[in-house]
Amino acid sequence: MRAGGQGASCPRAVAAAVKGQTAPGAWGRMAAARAWVLVLSLWGAVVSGQNITARVGERLVLNCKGAPRKPPQQLEWKLNTRRTEVWKVLSPQGDSWDSVARILPNGSLLLPAVGIEDEGTFRCRATSRSGKETKSNYRVQVYKIPRKPEIVDPASQLTAAVPNKVGTCVSEGSYPAGTLSWQLDGKLLKSDGEGVSVKEETRRHPETGLFTVQSELIVTPALGGAPRPTFSCSFSLGLPGHRPLHSAPVQPSVWAPEPVPLKVQLVVEPESGVVAPGGTVTLTCEAPAQPPPQVHWLKDGTPLPLLFSPVLLLSEVQPHDQGVYSCVATYPTHGSQQSPAVSISILETGREGPSAGSVGDSGLGTLALALGILGGLGTAALLIGIILWQRRCRREQRKAPERQEEEEERAELNQSEEPEAAQGSAVGP
Ligand SMILES: *[C@@H]1O[C@H](CO)[C@@H](O)[C@H](O)[C@H]1NC(C)=O
Ligand SMILES: *[C@@H]1O[C@H](CO)[C@@H](O)[C@H](O)[C@H]1NC(C)=O
Repeated sequence: MRAGGQGASCPRAVAAAVKGQTAPGAWGRMAAARAWVLVLSLWGAVVSGQNITARVGERLVLNCKGAPRKPPQQLEWKLNTRRTEVWKVLSPQGDSWDSVARILPNGSLLLPAVGIEDEGTFRCRATSRSGKETKSNYRVQVYKIPRKPEIVDPASQLTAAVPNKVGTCVSEGSYPAGTLSWQLDGKLLKSDGEGVSVKEETRRHPETGLFTVQSELIVTPALGGAPRPTFSCSFSLGLPGHRPLHSAPVQPSVWAPEPVPLKVQLVVEPESGVVAPGGTVTLTCEAPAQPPPQVHWLKDGTPLPLLFSPVLLLSEVQPHDQGVYSCVATYPTHGSQQSPAVSISILETGREGPSAGSVGDSGLGTLALALGILGGLGTAALLIGIILWQRRCRREQRKAPERQEEEEERAELNQSEEPEAAQGSAVGP
């Protein structure tokens, strides 16, 4: 940017711009001085500079401001383009450069057919009849609208859940290069590193200088997505006032593979799921898949927050840890699968209660059975004891008094041989 043309008039705009910057004191004056520099440099570009876009192959006329409409004129055109490489000066009287640019009788510069090499800066300095000098400054940008973009090698079928190449969009013959973009069902598709990947390549033709842009689209259609998505591609030059060019759409079908039944298992340690208070339970979610699925846990049907590990460790278990646990594995391609549920219960050491879990119930049952058997055995022993005692009583009643001595002897013998029977008789009334 050059502060050209500052000698020309425009004091009002400058004064207005500076007023806002003026502040009392030295600092204020410094700020004002800097503002002047800024305003002057901007002013040079804004007042005498103008951006022109010119289509390749068309004619371009640049007016020399302030020049007399008819000769004799005092004016000079200076251009710095890719064609000239250095500043080239053209004057009405000088040798013309007919095929590229020539000065018209009214002082304007004519380029009969703009080429890519004519992109650059054009300046004119003219002196009016009254001696006032005016400068014009143009930045000429050249453009070439390419053919409509085309999707080559379009896919007729895409497979869900895996990356697929949709096609390659090609735009040929643009200047400047411009950009290609993809749309899915009318919405812009952007490379996101996951489901959408776009690879763009730009080449320049060595002779024409025009660009060929191509963009390859790879997508991973989601399972359960649209069965016939519509892809299209559009080209944009990136210059103001130019609408994008759209390709014909392609409509591949999406084929979804049948979900593979995946078994999710829940392994518990200890196996019974019964643990004493303060003990440890380890639950391991076994979900075979590559890549490993995302795991979360459910307790009594409610997700446990912030737990995404395939191993759930319950240490120092408390009564509130009791419940029914299961894990849910979420596969990127096959949705979610839930494991069978497992009941975790705490062994009640103090008392028997209904809170004991299913495995605890069976333990208690065994205990009850054992107690029942013991009780039965006890009762039988008691009955046998009673029967023996009653028999003995009856025998004693039948015995004659004369045999008392003999009987006593036998009792003594029994006592030594069968202490239990003797005891039983001693206890009896
Ligand atoms: C002209 O284009 C240049 C660069 O492309 C830009 O910096 C400048 O602001 C433009 N000027 C105008 C007046 O649009
Ligand atoms: C000068 O002449 C050309 C061609 O006749 C015309 O397009 C252009 O507008 C003229 N310029 C002025 C400043 O009248």
